[in-house]
Amino acid sequence: MNKRKIIFFAALLAYANVSQAENGQLLAAQCYQCHGPNGHSKGEIDSIAGKSSEDLYGDLIEMKQKQTVEIMHLQAKNYSDAELREIANYLSTLK
Ligand code: HEC
Repeated sequence: MNKRKIIFFAALLAYANVSQAENGQLLAAQCYQCHGPNGHSKGEIDSIAGKSSEDLYGDLIEMKQKQTVEIMHLQAKNYSDAELREIANYLSTLK
């Protein structure tokens, strides 16, 4: 691969990373109406900010796959697995 191609792919990769982080941030905003501003709940529902990305993603996939009609299961079903990954990655970066 020549130098120009390498630079092109590096730029593409950097762009993909940034837009994925932004997408996670946008998608996670939907969660705050129940889980509190920036994922910090002051009520009975759990906070979701700052948990590990793996735990969040695992919980979300589990809730997505269950055939129940509880609030969170219905939430999780609205997103693709890739979107849930982006949401989990973003939330895990919050303090
Ligand atoms: C309409 C309200 C509502 C919205 C919106 C919502 N949630 Fe929830 N969530 C809940 C409730 C209620 C629970 C606890 C009951 C349950 O587990 O089903 C919960 C539980 C969870 C849990 C499990 C927490 C634990 O410690 O067991 C995670 C993770 C979670 N939500 C993440 C999210 C994410 C990410 C989003 C955005 C995509 C989101 N929630 C949007 C209401 C909501």
